[in-house]
Amino acid sequence: MPKSRVVGGTHRVPGDKSITHRALLFAALAPGRSTVTGALTSLDARSTARVLRQLGAEVSPLRQGTPVEIRGRKRLVRSDTALDCGNSGTTARLLLGLLAAQRFSSRVTGDASLRRRPMRRVTDPLVAMGARVTAGANDGLPLTITGGALQALDWELAVASAQVKSALLLAGAAGGVEVRLTERAATRDHTERFLRHFGFDITVRRGVLTLKPTGQFAPFDITVPGDPSSAIFLLAATLLADRGDVRIAGVGLNPSRTGFLAVLRRMGAVIDEANVTESFGEPLGDLITQPAMLVSTDIAADEVPGVIDEIPMLACLAARARGTSRFVGLAELRVKESNRLELLATNLQRLGANARVDGDDLIIAGRDAPLAGRVVTHADHRIAMAFTVLGRVAGNRIRVDDPACAAVSFPGFDVALAALDQGTR
Ligand code: S3P
Repeated sequence: MPKSRVVGGTHRVPGDKSITHRALLFAALAPGRSTVTGALTSLDARSTARVLRQLGAEVSPLRQGTPVEIRGRKRLVRSDTALDCGNSGTTARLLLGLLAAQRFSSRVTGDASLRRRPMRRVTDPLVAMGARVTAGANDGLPLTITGGALQALDWELAVASAQVKSALLLAGAAGGVEVRLTERAATRDHTERFLRHFGFDITVRRGVLTLKPTGQFAPFDITVPGDPSSAIFLLAATLLADRGDVRIAGVGLNPSRTGFLAVLRRMGAVIDEANVTESFGEPLGDLITQPAMLVSTDIAADEVPGVIDEIPMLACLAARARGTSRFVGLAELRVKESNRLELLATNLQRLGANARVDGDDLIIAGRDAPLAGRVVTHADHRIAMAFTVLGRVAGNRIRVDDPACAAVSFPGFDVALAALDQGTR
């Protein structure tokens, strides 16, 4: 009989990835000195810092525990070398929006995973605004973008993507033109919150988001909340433990990011929120939870944009829940850092769980028999972390091929996970 795992304590997760990227980008556009406290220092955040330095912004090294100082400038400068966004889709897409408003050419590239990811969803509307883009035969990086005088945009977004939306808003705000976007579904709204802070007029009415170029970029000081998309891994590890009580303090609670809390609650988790406050227009607070007997749940297609980064962990939890879960409409998961839809299903199957892909849906029949085997991550950080958490369940023997790739979004993930443990009884 395996011993029961006891978890406890108060923990923190690294700064929010989406907010960190945006804070660095906006600070680079604001002439003067800005500071970002609690920034994520992961590989993805470093990619954004690196490309902004290449464009003439001064960005201090990203070090855990030290605020980042940025000296932005009114006009960015051309880089002689390619802007390498590494593994980071957010860096690449938001950067393209920013570059569309700069009067010079830039070469943008990324690692093998990022070079496979679709970019026309951003470059097509940027070209409609007046940017010039020279790309290879396929829909991706590397490409060259030449920015300049832009014109107003009225565009229907074909996919629900905060990265695309943000790129176009950035182009409009930096280029001084109006942008009207018809959205299929609401997505994370951090960019809108920043832009409102700078005085841009942003309205959302019946699925149409309008930006009027009324604002101006000015230096700012921000404290970044903990990343809810990282917190889910510690919450899930707690739910799967046997005893104890865990608090994750200072987590971002922007409603466009917390859809996963509703899903976890439907699965039987009790999650309390405490010390809720607001910082730089973003709500944050503590999340408190305990181990739970999980039951299956369905995720409807219109719920997916709100839980897009949490699907890997939710799928692994569904593999341990009583009953069959169906996650509907996951096409976008195919174009993340890996083809997450296929990887989730094949890895769960390889471990002996009952999972399959049906069209764009993922169907998982939960069971509590031990799972064992090797997980192939394709260097996808969220796949690595989700299966590492599943591997903590007593009796499971799961080996993750590349646990170190967690550093893309969650530096110190293994240490944070181990810190939950208060022993076994
Ligand atoms: C992000 C948007 C989402 C998300 C990504 C971060 C952002 O991507 O998956 O991790 O910061 O805007 P999509 O816009 O491709 O859905």
